[in-house]
Parts: sequence; C-alpha cells; structure tokens
Amino acid sequence: MIFKFDKANSLSENDVTDESIYKQRRDILKKLGYLGAGSLLAASGSASAGPLDWFSSDKAEAFKTTPLSFKKSNLNLEIQTPEQKATSYNNFYEFGTGKGDPVEKAQSFQVDPWSLSIEGLVEKPITLGYEDLFSTFNLEERIYRLRCVEAWSMVIPWVGFSLASIIKKAQPLSSAKYVSFQTLYDPKQMPGQRSRFVGGGVDYPYVEGLRLDEAMQPLTMLSVGMYGKTLPPQNGAPIRLVVPWKYGFKSIKSIVKIVLTDKQPPTTWQNLASDEYGFYANVNPAVDHPRWSQARERRITSGGLLTQNRIDTLPFNGYEEVASLYKGMDLRKFY
Ligand code: MTE
Repeated sequence: MIFKFDKANSLSENDVTDESIYKQRRDILKKLGYLGAGSLLAASGSASAGPLDWFSSDKAEAFKTTPLSFKKSNLNLEIQTPEQKATSYNNFYEFGTGKGDPVEKAQSFQVDPWSLSIEGLVEKPITLGYEDLFSTFNLEERIYRLRCVEAWSMVIPWVGFSLASIIKKAQPLSSAKYVSFQTLYDPKQMPGQRSRFVGGGVDYPYVEGLRLDEAMQPLTMLSVGMYGKTLPPQNGAPIRLVVPWKYGFKSIKSIVKIVLTDKQPPTTWQNLASDEYGFYANVNPAVDHPRWSQARERRITSGGLLTQNRIDTLPFNGYEEVASLYKGMDLRKFY
C-alpha cells in the first residue's frame, strides 16, 4: 500500500517504491545471485556506495515504513532527537528489556492486517483495519517531548490524530469514566511474551489506562507515524498512544483494543510494582521515583552519552495547560 508524500517535501508518489515492485526486484536479484553478494557485503560490514547498496545494507530485510501525508500542527523549536536514535533506543519489553532489543528483534513484526476495536461503554463500537488507521481521520504532525521515568527524554515529530476524535465517533455513554488500552498479545511474534525472563516479568498483554477527560484532552494522540513515515515496529507500529505530559510508560504501543469503562483500569506497571508506579504518572520533577530522581533529565539529541544535555524537568513535562485536570489532587505524591 502507498501513502501519498507530503507535498511540502517536493516528492511525488513516483518516488515511493511500491512493496510489490520492491519484492519483485528482490526476487529478480535473488535469481541473478546478487542478493547473496549483497548479504556478504553487509556481513563484512562494507559501507561502500554502489548500485547494490540499497540491498546490501543490513537493513535489507528491515521493516519497511511508508511516507505519510499530514498537516503540521504545532510549532516546537527544540532540537529534535535524530530519527536514528528515536528508532534504536526503545522500551518495548515484548521484544526484550534491552534498549537495543526492539530494533533488533521486531523487524519482521506483522502489522498488516491489523484490527483495532473501540468498545465498552459506547453507543457505536468501531473496528478499524490497517488501512483505516491512516484514512479515517485527518493526520497531523505534532512535535512533542517524550519523558521516560528513567530520566531520559526525546523530542519526536509524531504523525497521528487526537484520541478524542475516535472516542467521539464511538459516542461514549454517560456512564463511561475511564479508557483502557491493550497491546497485541501474540507470543509467536513477541519473544518477551513467550518468556518471563525475556519480557521482564511483565504479565502480558501490556495494558494502560486514562481517565476519560485525560483521553479527551486535545494533546492526547494516537500516533500512526513518526518523522513523516509510518511507525517502525520498535516504536509501536501500526498505532500507539502518545500522552506528552505523562511518563513514557503510559504511551502504550501496538494497540488492538480501546475499552471505555466506569472503573479505573489496571495498568501494567502498577500491576508489577504499585509502590513505584501510579495510575496518573504525570511528569513531576518534585517527586522522585525510588530509583531515579525526576528533577532533571538527559535529553537525547545528536551527541554521545557524555555530551547529552542535562536539563531541568518541567511539571507536566512543560504542558502546563493540562494542570486544570488535576485541581484538588495532591501532586506531591507519586501518582
Ligand atoms: N508499550 C508496550 N506495549 N510495551 C512496552 O514495553 N514501554 C513503554 C511505552 N510503551 C512499552 C510500551 C515505555 S517504558 C516507554 S518509555 C515508551 O513506550 C518508549 O517509547 P519509544 O520506544 O517509542 O521511545
């Protein structure tokens, strides 16, 4: 499937290689014996330029992302985290607990066909297939800070749509107070779901939740892309949540189910260690995690580990407009 390029990039659809053509080319090259040579070059770490380079790269079998067309919606002048870093330093325990595990182990993850359902306390349950994820709502780019509770942060250009738009379409009943989310459960594809050792002792599927008013807050988005293209699997393809004022673990990846409920839903990290992780998990420099001070953060930009900027963490990760959602709550506690 082909998604149109953003016209602003002055690229046309002709610049995108259709997957079927890509596969045909690979088959032809395989028959000619070129792919073997390419793989050999990759194995020997050769970086020389040449006509076979596209195939000889060790990413030849990598998951293929597709350019998206979208409208730019917010202005964020902070230095963006380079795409290469945002797509290779990840937390996705279904593929292992190491930061490099997801990029290494998720490349053959199947995202098409996909099925995402919105159900529970709604008038009109919805089911979206893979292509619907990109065509049902207008896509926009939003550049957000992502702050992990491990005290690192990134600035990422996401592409997606407001979670509110899909919830509105499903028409919540007045009894709906919370929204729960569930990641795909597929142990065949996700090694961390097959083994507690690989998957960090998490009880899968990974689940998350928001209060309905948090879910309807316009900043809350479902992301189907980043850096102008569809998401790679390590970042939660084909669709993930992004809640920029909360710690990164709330931003659940590869979602298959969204359920509106009247009870506060369980969340993966609370289930695992309720003394360390709360339901709300709003970024709060005043409240430390037992293992990580939350006062400052390591902003991941283009530099190496030693040159990365240590900066002050801001309440609500700088998205103060959400503070009114928590009026009357004691924010000194680690929620
Ligand atoms: N979603 C699932 N299903 N499994 C996970 O392990 N990790 C979370 C979150 N979503 C996680 C997940 C954590 S701890 C963080 S910090 C972010 O994803 C990281 O997102 P990124 O890898 O795109 O930076």
